[in-house]
Amino acid sequence: MRQPVLLLAMQAAWSCLCRATQHYPAAWGHYDVCKSQVYTDEGLTWDYMACQPEAGDMTKYLRVTLDPPNITCGDPPETYCALENPYMCNNECDANTVELAHPPELMFDFEGRNPTTFWQSTSWRKYPKPLLVNITMSWNKTIELTDDIVITFESGRPEQMVLEKSLDYGRTWQPYQFYATDCLDAFTMDPKTVQDLTQHTLLDIICTEDYSRGYVWKYDKTVRFEIKDRFALFAGPQLHNMASLYGQLDTTKNLRDFFTITDLRIRLLRPATGATMVDENNLSRYFYAISDIKVQGRCKCNLHANSCVFDKEKLTCECEHNTTGPDCGRCKKNYQGRAWNSGSYLPIPKGTANICVPSIVGPVNCECFGHSNRCSYIELLNTVICVSCKHNTRGQHCQLCKLGYYRNATAELDDKNVCLECKCDPFGSESDRCNGTGFCKCKEGATGPKCTECQPGYLWNNGCKSRVCDELLRCQNGGVCHNNLRCQCPAAFTGLLCEKPRCEGEAAGCGDPDSGQAALRLPPTPLLLLPLLLAPAWAAPL
Ligand SMILES: *[C@@H]1O[C@H](CO)[C@@H](O)[C@H](O)[C@H]1NC(C)=O
Ligand SMILES: *[C@@H]1O[C@H](CO)[C@@H](O)[C@H](O)[C@H]1NC(C)=O
Ligand SMILES: *[C@@H]1O[C@H](CO)[C@@H](O)[C@H](O)[C@H]1NC(C)=O
Ligand SMILES: *[C@@H]1O[C@H](CO)[C@@H](O)[C@H](O)[C@H]1NC(C)=O
Ligand SMILES: *[C@@H]1O[C@H](CO)[C@@H](O)[C@H](O)[C@H]1NC(C)=O
Ligand SMILES: *[C@@H]1O[C@H](CO)[C@@H](O)[C@H](O)[C@H]1NC(C)=O
Ligand SMILES: *[C@@H]1O[C@H](CO)[C@@H](O)[C@H](O)[C@H]1NC(C)=O
Repeated sequence: MRQPVLLLAMQAAWSCLCRATQHYPAAWGHYDVCKSQVYTDEGLTWDYMACQPEAGDMTKYLRVTLDPPNITCGDPPETYCALENPYMCNNECDANTVELAHPPELMFDFEGRNPTTFWQSTSWRKYPKPLLVNITMSWNKTIELTDDIVITFESGRPEQMVLEKSLDYGRTWQPYQFYATDCLDAFTMDPKTVQDLTQHTLLDIICTEDYSRGYVWKYDKTVRFEIKDRFALFAGPQLHNMASLYGQLDTTKNLRDFFTITDLRIRLLRPATGATMVDENNLSRYFYAISDIKVQGRCKCNLHANSCVFDKEKLTCECEHNTTGPDCGRCKKNYQGRAWNSGSYLPIPKGTANICVPSIVGPVNCECFGHSNRCSYIELLNTVICVSCKHNTRGQHCQLCKLGYYRNATAELDDKNVCLECKCDPFGSESDRCNGTGFCKCKEGATGPKCTECQPGYLWNNGCKSRVCDELLRCQNGGVCHNNLRCQCPAAFTGLLCEKPRCEGEAAGCGDPDSGQAALRLPPTPLLLLPLLLAPAWAAPL
């Protein structure tokens, strides 16, 4: 499976992490086909399923960077002492002689040769200044890890090291695991092992001492990041219950992200010394050498592709379900009939494809900012308009807010919540509509953006009512001021302030025919009379 040298050799090559064309339904929970043909009442149609590329060796597709860049041994040539034996110092590193050079590519080449090929750093010449090396592996593509990361050292395993990951192409880094002979001393962390983790602490970042001891043991040369042991917390010891893991991955984004990377970084912080004291007279004993790094995984294609190609130095998902982008992370143009969604592992075993559906109806582009997927052609106007705009929108392209709603200025037009309800107070406002910034039109006396407050001189009582009576403006003839809003008059009097005697038959003083009418209208609508009350005309009715 493995190919000779990384990237450089891949430039010419075109590889495919894909399956042979298969026309049988997905094997149980393997998600290896994106669609299959089925017979239905309507004849032969496609059945769409969640799918993912096969897992494989990801070291074939990475770009490796060393920091500092000139940390590889051999320029100028150096001699090294054998680890086991400080008196054997005849190992040479010379960058200009192929047989004696130890470039970074040798960490990713074919293993099983004799002698082993490996990358090697310069020795710890600047002791006690720390010997720090960063080995950064970049895919420029999101990858989902499917098996343990295994680093095989040719030198002793480092006494301190950190494995880090990035999910954003190297912009930010998070630790994955700490490694030390003494976790407390090196990182002030309690030593743990992956066996200490539970389903609830799976995402914890631990420091382990498991891979830093055994200075020169020939069979103790690997440092691991245990993916499978973590999977096993959900899928059982033999990973026999992958359905349970997939179900968990489906519903827990943090868990999915934990196993997803775009880059990995090995930070070598202190080489193996095998003793408490560093032999300062013989620093050629201390260096890092790595013969192999294994990274198994698959392209992350959001369950919308079952193959991933390496072309022009770049991994790309071969998206199906009318999706596009390096990770099939969006709907294709003209297939935006509904919002993009990742495929789902559930229900097991076929999952849910969540395909993108056409946004086109008829020969013309139906652009409704995702608020409708139906358009209608209006012949008279020779134009296409969106039909049944949802999310409280309206307009030819559902680009306006329905009456009673206003635009959230910070939201994009295709946001489901772009239109906000005016929420005008039904008593304080003229109508349920508002202006472009959500201000309602208030009735007299009311104020505030939603007309929920009263101006001075007004009182809230299902809207703002003018103050009619109080200590200063008294009800007359024994009338009682009620809530400052009206005078409750004795039977013989009427008027806003009970200032008028009630008319009895044709009695004198009731000469004005209008006054009786006004008095009748008074109780239900005192507000209407307010201007009259204040106007001098009131004293001498027309
Ligand atoms: C290694 O990378 C870390 C960040 O991940 C950075 O802080 C550190 O300076 C780097 N060390 C070297 C030697 O480049
Ligand atoms: C690597 O380069 C840096 C700066 O360019 C220099 O200071 C350092 O001595 C070099 N190290 C080696 C081992 O050549
Ligand atoms: C990463 O991929 C993008 C395309 O997705 C490309 O534009 C960019 O140049 C690539 N970066 C590197 C460092 O290869
Ligand atoms: C390392 O130490 C041994 C024994 O002290 C000595 O023979 C050898 O020359 C030293 N190597 C170097 C590179 O100094
Ligand atoms: C898009 O999806 C439709 C089904 O909705 C399918 O018939 C068609 O082949 C797909 N087109 C592409 C380019 O994938
Ligand atoms: C307006 O939209 C922005 C962006 O979507 C959102 O953060 C904000 O909460 C919205 N405002 C209201 C009042 O809903
Ligand atoms: C809405 O009305 C308020 C209050 O009158 C005013 O401040 C604001 O500028 C108006 N907004 C628009 C878009 O007219």
